[in-house]
Amino acid sequence: AKITFITADGSSRAVEGHTGSVMELAVSHGIPGIDGDCGGVCSCATCHVHVAPEDLDKTGQASEIEKDMLELADGADEFSRLCCQISLSEDLDGIQLRVAK
Ligand code: FES
Repeated sequence: AKITFITADGSSRAVEGHTGSVMELAVSHGIPGIDGDCGGVCSCATCHVHVAPEDLDKTGQASEIEKDMLELADGADEFSRLCCQISLSEDLDGIQLRVAK
């Protein structure tokens, strides 16, 4: 799936991946602002993104565990996800994710 990341400076980068998590995809492409410090186990919130509102039906909402973690993240809103908790699949093709500041 092709995924577009909007980074903090407003630039966008489209990257493509097929397996693993969206966080792993972002880290492997050096997307600024996605650190993935905890390695993808939903305990650091350094992979916080805001899903474009029209794409939320593709990514789904955050799980309860993820929501608890997001409460500690700056600027979390109803479009927030921890992108290590989003598995890559073709269903995600074309989505836009804004990297949280
Ligand atoms: Fe740590 Fe996603 S990488 S919560």
